[in-house]
Amino acid sequence: MNVRLIRGTAVIAVAGFLASGALNAQDRKSCERDYKPHVGQSGKDVVWVPTPDELVQRMLAMAKVTPQDLVYDLGAGDGKIAIAAGKLGATAVGIEYNPDMAKLAQCYVKADGVTDKVKIVQGDIFKEDFSKATVVTMYLLPDLNLRLRPIILNMKPGTRVTSHQFTMADWEPDETAEIEFRSAYMWIVPAKVEGTWSLREQGSNAQYTLNLSQRFQRVSGDISGGGAKQPLVGATLRGDAIRFAFNDDKGVTRTLTGTIRGNEISGVLKGAGGTETGITGTRR
Ligand SMILES: C[S@@+](CC[C@H](N)C(=O)[O-])C[C@H]1O[C@@H](n2cnc3c(N)ncnc32)[C@H](O)[C@@H]1O
Repeated sequence: MNVRLIRGTAVIAVAGFLASGALNAQDRKSCERDYKPHVGQSGKDVVWVPTPDELVQRMLAMAKVTPQDLVYDLGAGDGKIAIAAGKLGATAVGIEYNPDMAKLAQCYVKADGVTDKVKIVQGDIFKEDFSKATVVTMYLLPDLNLRLRPIILNMKPGTRVTSHQFTMADWEPDETAEIEFRSAYMWIVPAKVEGTWSLREQGSNAQYTLNLSQRFQRVSGDISGGGAKQPLVGATLRGDAIRFAFNDDKGVTRTLTGTIRGNEISGVLKGAGGTETGITGTRR
């Protein structure tokens, strides 16, 4: 091979390298050349204040974020929560209204090498669709959390929601954490279980009528299976997973562990001595 050919090949290789963007990779400092935000600057519905790194990690840990998750940060600021979620392997989207801030966040996404995992969308959290999220994170304000609450409660049961500092009023969190006097809260979207359910135990074919009342993840009610109504004891609802105990008409304590799918329930009924039978049912 002659020298000219070798030089030509080298030039083409370098040009290709440049075109691929490898030498254009931004570092965080260069992202801030055009726009540098300041803490407390106004935003559409709330000012920008970043969540401290340690709390970001705690929020993502509370929500048990894994690579299988689709995380949406509502009001993404500089994108730090979305980027942190992406670094855990999750797919993440940050929605940020301020176009300069959204551009900066996108630049940080590039600088941190997570473009394959993280996207920043410039938009309004009250207009963008985040219904496919499996995890929602936010650091907003109490009234904004409350405006989002009905949307969140209509998301798939089991969706985790975590908020820095602000609660969801009377929807109590499933978990709370505190780091250096800052609080973070986590909720699991509960299935809608209220109503009257007809249950059938496999094998014996015993039938039960289950009445459930619900306030968010708090459930109570009673069950009857031929005999008198018995109150549910220790009822819990976590996402689509329901569990409670009751005394059957023979005075035996039974424990039902089930999964709710819309108007159907299926699970296992434990009886005396740990015997287990399947149980299925539908909402009337
Ligand atoms: C308190 S900061 C939180 C930033 C980031 N989530 C964090 O925890 O570090 C709230 C962000 O929401 C943005 N914001 C305010 N109203 C918004 C809206 N309606 N839609 C999208 N973003 C909004 C602000 O510009 C600001 O960057």
